[in-house]
Amino acid sequence: MDLSVGTPCDPPPDIVRAALATAGPEQGYPPSAGTPALRQSFAGWANRRLGVQVDPDTEVAACIGTKEFVAGAPHWLRLRTPERDTVLYPEVSYPTYAMGATLAGCRAVAVPVRPDWSLDLDAVDESDAARAVCLWMNTPANPTGALDDLVAAAQWARARGVTVLSDECYVEFTWDGPARTVLAAGTPGVLAVHSLSKRSNLAGARVGAYAGDPELVAYLRSVRQHAGFMVPGPVQAAAVAAWDDDAHVEAQRLRYRSRLQRLQSILAAVGIDAVLPRGAFYLWAKAPGGDAWATAAMLAERLGIVVSPGEFYGPAATGWFRVAAVAPDDRLDVVEARIGSQPE
Ligand SMILES: Cc1ncc(COP(=O)(O)O)c(C=O)c1O
Repeated sequence: MDLSVGTPCDPPPDIVRAALATAGPEQGYPPSAGTPALRQSFAGWANRRLGVQVDPDTEVAACIGTKEFVAGAPHWLRLRTPERDTVLYPEVSYPTYAMGATLAGCRAVAVPVRPDWSLDLDAVDESDAARAVCLWMNTPANPTGALDDLVAAAQWARARGVTVLSDECYVEFTWDGPARTVLAAGTPGVLAVHSLSKRSNLAGARVGAYAGDPELVAYLRSVRQHAGFMVPGPVQAAAVAAWDDDAHVEAQRLRYRSRLQRLQSILAAVGIDAVLPRGAFYLWAKAPGGDAWATAAMLAERLGIVVSPGEFYGPAATGWFRVAAVAPDDRLDVVEARIGSQPE
């Protein structure tokens, strides 16, 4: 049972599937920035769920899922400010932040994390900050579930002329306190990056959006239009249905919450302590004896589950491992049954 990848295992809502199948939007070229309906729907969602106002005409644009945006944004930002050549990213994080730096020909400089896995911006060398084209934040964080102070990060970055790119794809799965967005600090110098892959189980459709600083949005819209980045028309129609609806997200939150608890109990039964995350749908646990590969092998042999050793997310995560709560409940029944049937 593959619990190593954060791919959704539940269906998207029927209203979204129905929108995907509507005739019409497949015919003409879709707007690269997103249809007015998509941008309006995103802005409505951001207001309802995050409590922020963004102008759908000037502060929002679509992306083809967020991975392409994460991988590409440093390159485009560097074209705009060629005198800056560095990408700051969390030292324990989704690997595409560092990959985007490489693809841009930039230096990837890891920002140290504190014991609670939040970013320690005080530890960033001022000479690196002066060269930084952007700072990646990810709250709630993959793989650790940590929550960061995004408003403080925006202030830190503004004082240094660094653009904050805040990957908020897990925002609807914030378990500890209200949802956090960098947009709460206002839009200057920041972009929030959002995905429907996790929120609405639409990873296969490829759609997300970025929102924030109108000058940055105008610049990126233009570059991306010329480069041919377009979310397919039917997918844009589906995105409107998804961002307009919150009921399916409430159901999904309950599913992840319950699976995280079940997986926590499963790990406890084989002698591993894992605390529930503050956000996202991963358990992040210390490997007994500090060897995450040995733990991964043990979990594969005893329970038939595949987990991710921590170093996939950076050298600082060695000795930890991640378990994604992406197996349906009947599959977790199978794992639970295996606990008793295996020798200690
Ligand atoms: C932190 C983070 N950002 C971005 C993505 C990419 O999501 P998508 O491209 O499906 O929007 C993922 C996917 O797992 C992720 O974990």
